Amino acid sequence: MPNAALISQKIAKPHLEIEGDCALSGEFSISGAKNSALVLMAASLLTEESLVLQNVPQLTDIDGMSEILLAMGIGLRRSNDALHINASGLKHVELPYELVHGLRASFFCIGSLLARLGQAKIPLPGGCEIGARPVSEHIKGLKALGAYINVEHGVVTASVPGITNRLKGADIVLDCPSVGATETILMAAVLAEGRSSIENAAQEPEIQDLAKFLNAMGAKVSGAGGPKITIEGVKELHGCNYTVMPDRIEAGTFLLAGAITRSVVSVTPVIPEHLSSVLQKLRDCGCSLEITDNEIKITPKEIKGVDITTQPFPGFPTDLQAPFMALMATAKGTSVITEKIYENRMQHVAELQRMGASIRLQGNTAVIEGVPNLSAAPVCGGDLRSTAAMVLASLSAKGVSKVEGLKHLDRGYSAIEKKLNKAGAHITRY
Ligand code: EPZ
Repeated sequence: MPNAALISQKIAKPHLEIEGDCALSGEFSISGAKNSALVLMAASLLTEESLVLQNVPQLTDIDGMSEILLAMGIGLRRSNDALHINASGLKHVELPYELVHGLRASFFCIGSLLARLGQAKIPLPGGCEIGARPVSEHIKGLKALGAYINVEHGVVTASVPGITNRLKGADIVLDCPSVGATETILMAAVLAEGRSSIENAAQEPEIQDLAKFLNAMGAKVSGAGGPKITIEGVKELHGCNYTVMPDRIEAGTFLLAGAITRSVVSVTPVIPEHLSSVLQKLRDCGCSLEITDNEIKITPKEIKGVDITTQPFPGFPTDLQAPFMALMATAKGTSVITEKIYENRMQHVAELQRMGASIRLQGNTAVIEGVPNLSAAPVCGGDLRSTAAMVLASLSAKGVSKVEGLKHLDRGYSAIEKKLNKAGAHITRY
């Protein structure tokens, strides 16, 4: 075996080998939404009664969150796609840094811990590959609800002063429609004394799923999904059996897999209105769509360049910016993609360029000149969605690509190569 191959075999990191120029067909089965399931797990701390979460995806992020809940003394058991949770044994209010640092959603537990036990000690989640990821809005909201917060040595120590140990309702206006801050404040306010409101709230579908879950537990939340949410505090919450909504980002990723391979595929279950802005851009760039209330079928025609700017919901979701750029790299003509949510979410540009994409990057704006064919190459994703973009580009490229970054990919896509191979791809995991 020639030296290079020998060396690469010796140092090969876990990767996917993807045969390009492939055609896909059939139906992609969409799993439960990662970014909803994680926050519902945090909200499960709010009651001592047993509850069941159905349609929980098999992801390393879910495993990580399960580990954190177990470390806090929560009873948790998985059976197939259901999580059986009982937080009556909740006793540790301090989350270990090594578990929190890699899983931002665990910070959202601060709201439910304060509401349930009146205290919490959680490390700051810190930044990640895509940005600084501050939590100032979360902390501002909790302070408004009466929590005492001290941030020292990278740890947020929070407590509820007074003998009742109960937060007080308040009217909160967010400086930015932060998804996590809206969720953290919601979870704190549902057990607060009196009425609360959140203005400039995030409107993502995950917020609506959380509000539905909390109301199923006996909370009184109204207006979720809009810019102003109102919460009437209650004394306690009870258990429930709740099904997590389908993952809109996974569904969008597989629609883009159909578009980039010029294949007719469908995704189900899906809630089409969770993807309105993405579906519009798919139509604008040359795909026809057949939509029912829980299925979307895509038929790509000639794909041409369209412009995208990421925005909070209902605008174009930042989590599909990288996968959509992979499609634009193979489109006819020019497209301009601007990332407005995160300061460093363009790492996939360099990797796409290695595959022959013609992209000019100015700050957070990429100008893409579509090319007839990408060429297979060894590439590496720097975060969850840029790795997904590399998988899509490899499906289209001429030749066999090697995609590294599986530790990112497996956080947000459940057995992505199994689902793609079922639709006709040729992907092997090493
Ligand atoms: C959630 O992150 C998602 N993660 C992200 O998905 C998603 O990209 C993001 O929402 C936006 O839709 C989970 O739900 C676990 P934000 P979150 O607070 O809550 C700034 C994926 O790939 N900001 O809405 O952290 C922040 O810097 C992940 O699945 C402040 O300035 O998002 C960012 O620029 C990636 N101050 C912007 O808001 C704050 O206090 C959006 O952040 C909070 C946020």
